Parts: sequence; C-alpha cells; structure tokens
Amino acid sequence: MDKVTVIGAGNVGATVAYSVARKDIVKEVVLIDIKEGLSEGKSLDMWESSAIDQFNTKIIGSTNDYDKTKDSDIIVITSGLPRKPGMSRDDLISTNAKIVHDVTSKALAKSPNAIIIIVSNPLDVMSYAAFKTAGISSHKVFGMAGILDTARFRAFLADEMGTSPKDIQALLLGGHGDTMVPLPRFTTVNGIPITEYIKEDRLNEIVERTKKGGGELVNLMGTSAWYAPGAAAAQMVEAIVKDEKRTFPVCALLNGEYGMKNIYLGVPVVLGKNGIEKIIELDLTEQEMNDLKVSADSVKKVMTVLDDMNII
Ligand code: NAI
Ligand code: 2OP
Repeated sequence: MDKVTVIGAGNVGATVAYSVARKDIVKEVVLIDIKEGLSEGKSLDMWESSAIDQFNTKIIGSTNDYDKTKDSDIIVITSGLPRKPGMSRDDLISTNAKIVHDVTSKALAKSPNAIIIIVSNPLDVMSYAAFKTAGISSHKVFGMAGILDTARFRAFLADEMGTSPKDIQALLLGGHGDTMVPLPRFTTVNGIPITEYIKEDRLNEIVERTKKGGGELVNLMGTSAWYAPGAAAAQMVEAIVKDEKRTFPVCALLNGEYGMKNIYLGVPVVLGKNGIEKIIELDLTEQEMNDLKVSADSVKKVMTVLDDMNII
C-alpha cells in the first residue's frame, strides 16, 4: 500500500496526516479540505520537517480537488464540526452527516478499492452513514474511537499506579459516547489484573473519567482533542498498511455478533490488509452485556435522526 488520503485538514486531520507521514510507511499522504490553502499550507509545513524527522512520505495538500486522491489505499475521514463546550457528539449530526456522505462519495469515486476509516462525530452513526453511502463491504468501512478511548483509560491508569502506559492493555466496548463500556475485567499490566493494583471504588472513578474523557478536553480547550485521536487513527492505518493483524477496539458493523445487527458499535477486531479481518466476540457478564445494550440504544437514537434526514 502506497497512498493514504486524509479528508479534513483541521486539528485531527492534520495530526493524522503528520503521524502517518512520520511513520514513513507509505509513499504519499494527500490532505484535502474545502478551506482554500489550508491543506496546502499544512502539508508544506509538515513536508519541511521531513529532513529533520527523517521521513520520505510526501505530503500533498489539496483544496477540494479529488483527482489528487486517485487510487488511495486508505481514506481517513475527519471532515466536519468538532464539539464546543456544552455540546454532545450527537449534536453534530445534522451538519456532519451531510459532509460525511458527500466526501465519502467523492473520495470513493476516485479510489473504489480503498478502505475507509471514519473519525468524524457522532462516530458510530457517521460510520454507518459512510457504509450506507459507500455500498462496499463493511469490513472496509469502520470507525476510530476505541483505540483513543482505551488509550485515555491506559493513561489514567498509568498515572494512578505510577507505571508505564506501555505495559497497560485495556479493552472497551460500545459507542463513542458517555455510555461507552470500559472493561476492567480485561485490563491488565502485562498480564497482571488491574484489580491487583487499584481498589474497586477508585477504579470506578477512573472508568467514569474515561467515559467523559472527550468532554474533559472540550471543557479545557473549547474544542475537541486531536493529538491522541490523530495518533489512534494513524495506528489503524499502520496496522492495515503493514498487514499487522493487530487486535484493537474498532467501531464495526455488527451482523449478529453480541446479538445485534445493522448497527456500528465498538468491538474488538483484527485489523490487517483487508481491513477488519475478524470481529472477536467475548463472553460478557450479564452486567457488561446490559451496559453494552444501553450504549447501543443511545447509538440507535442518533441513527433515527440520520434516517429522518433522508440523505442516504
Ligand atoms: P476542525 O474544525 O479542526 O477540522 C475540521 C475540518 O473539516 C475543517 O478544516 C473544515 O474546513 C473541514 N471540512 C468541513 N467540511 C468539509 C468538506 N466537505 N470537505 C473537506 N473538508 C471539510 O475539527 P477537528 O477537531 O479536526 O475534528 C474533526 C472531527 O473529528 C469532528 O467531527 C470531531 O468531533 C471528530 N473527532 C472524533 C474523534 C473520535 O474519537 N472519533 C476524536 C476527536 C475528534
Ligand atoms: C473525543 O473523544 C470529541 O470524540 C472526541 O475527543
């Protein structure tokens, strides 16, 4: 795989493009936006760091010219409004659904074999909107959220224990919203259960902070996060480009897994050159399954708003 397109050259899109370029794993990253000059400027600035940071990936900016994205192997969609304080991710749907629908059609027309990674919010429903628009296998259309949300969980746990975040493995299911379901039962420090280190009450507080991790940053910065989201999307790109078969929580279309159908939700998957190569179904406790259903119900509510828009 040689070419990655990132749509939206705002905070997240530019960070995805830069993170992918610095990994030096593809020949070309195309960054595209509707704002005149924005992606060209950011791409040139990033490319000017190549001699310092020692990468060869060429970064090309484009104002809405999809010809430049032709024959991309992976398309990352970050275009759309971010949250402001007081907004939920779901408040973004009316604007972002039209944008995601529009850019998915335009990008896929030039790169019909591409794998599509959605970042725009509300993530689970935007992934569904892109899948419906694209009309390709759901194994090639999926969303980024779980890597970010587990990375936040891992960072908070590392702070709490004074250990390296590198040694913490964590898992989380469900929608990318306050109903997401972090799973302490599947969270370890190099195999040692997290419950050996942290008492239940404190662990519950960290789980709650993780669920509201996006909102914490919106309140601090007045807009949503980009460094960790950009790094998370770039990690998905790397797993696909290098056919790594890595296991990550990814927003995927369920087709009977976890007893659900026709809904995008965060679940563990194996990512490789074909996109989602496997969805892993865990044997959940009754409480975990109930929490997952609550999360699915909140995603379904936003899906009805998308249906009522009649754009797909
Ligand atoms: P931003 O406002 O910095 O950038 C968005 C960019 O999209 C702007 O440059 C805008 O010009 C561009 N854009 C709008 N319509 C477009 C179109 N039709 N074609 C091409 N470009 C278009 O926003 P930011 O912070 O980069 O966030 C982007 C999206 O990612 C938001 O919806 C945000 O909520 C979401 N997000 C999702 C995360 C996740 O975990 N899935 C994490 C962080 C952000
Ligand atoms: C985040 O979790 C807002 O989805 C964005 O940072």
